[in-house]
Amino acid sequence: MKRWSAPGKLMLLGEHAVVYGYPCLVTAVNQRISVAIEEQQSATTIQTTAGDTRFVDAALEIGCSVFGGKDKHFIVKINQAFSSQFGFGSSSAVTVATLAALADCLGKPVSQQALFETAFRVVETVQGVASGFDVAAAVYGRTIWYGQRGKDITRVPFTANTVAIVIGYTGVKADTATLVRQVGRLYNENKRQIELLFRKINALVIEAKKAIEAGDWSAFGQLCTENHTVLQELGVSTDRLDTLVKGALEAGAYGAKLSGAGGGDCMIALSPLDRVDAVKQAIEQCGGQIVDVEIDAEGVTQV
Ligand code: MEV
Repeated sequence: MKRWSAPGKLMLLGEHAVVYGYPCLVTAVNQRISVAIEEQQSATTIQTTAGDTRFVDAALEIGCSVFGGKDKHFIVKINQAFSSQFGFGSSSAVTVATLAALADCLGKPVSQQALFETAFRVVETVQGVASGFDVAAAVYGRTIWYGQRGKDITRVPFTANTVAIVIGYTGVKADTATLVRQVGRLYNENKRQIELLFRKINALVIEAKKAIEAGDWSAFGQLCTENHTVLQELGVSTDRLDTLVKGALEAGAYGAKLSGAGGGDCMIALSPLDRVDAVKQAIEQCGGQIVDVEIDAEGVTQV
C-alpha cells in the first residue's frame, strides 16, 4: 500500500480576513492523518474511524480525474491520529494525504503546487467557502505566510526554542462554516466597516511576520493580542475565549488570541519559557483544557 501522512494546522494570525484574500500566518502541528491506498478490482472501500468520508470521496473523484485514474477502484485505509474536536484542520489534512497517496498509487509524481491546487479544489467542492490556508499548511508544513488565496506562499522560519505556544481548548466545538457565514452577513451589511477591520488584521499579519523573523516575541505577542481585539470587534470571540486570553495575559504571556474561526475551539498564548507552567495553570483555572501539540511540523510526507 502507498501510505502518506499530512499535518493539522494552527492559525497564528489573520483568520477571517484570509477568506477575503488577505494574508495569514499559519503553522503545521504534529497531529497527523495518514492515508494508505492500494488498487483493487472490486468497488472502492474506505476504512476509517471518522464517520465523515465526504473529503476522501471527493479527493478520490477529483484526484482520479486530475491524475488519470478514472474507472479504477481502491482500498483506502485512514488513520486519524487527532480528534476533529479542536479545529486543527482534519478535513484538509485527510484531503491532502488522500491525494498524495492516490497520486503515488497511480504512479503519477505530483508537485507540491499541483497537490495544493487539487486539494484546494476538493475542499472548496465539499465546503463551499474556503480560504485554503489549512490546505497549504497540510501540503507545505512548517510555518507559512499564506497570501492571495494561495498564490503567495512563503516559509517563515519559526525558531521557537526561545518561546512557547500554549494552546487552550474552550470545551466548545465551533462550526467554522457558521462563523464564516456570520462574518459574510456583516460584510454584506456594512462592507466599509468590515473592510476596515480586515485591513487592520492585514497590517498586524505583516508586522507579525517581521516579528517572527526577528525572533521578537514581545512584539509578536502584542500583535497577537491586538489581532484578538479586532476579532472581538468582528463579533467572533466569546466570553469563554476572552476569559482564557485574559487569564494567559495576566499570567505573563507575551500575547494571546483566539485561533481559527472563533465561537469556541482554541485560543493560543505566546509564552516566555519560564512562564509556561503559570500560563497553562491560568488557562486551566479559567476553565480551559491544555492541548499539547508541537508547532512547525513537517508537511505531507510518505510514511
Ligand atoms: C478557520 O480556521 C479560519 C477561517 O479564516 C476560515 C478559513 O480561512 O477557511 C475563519
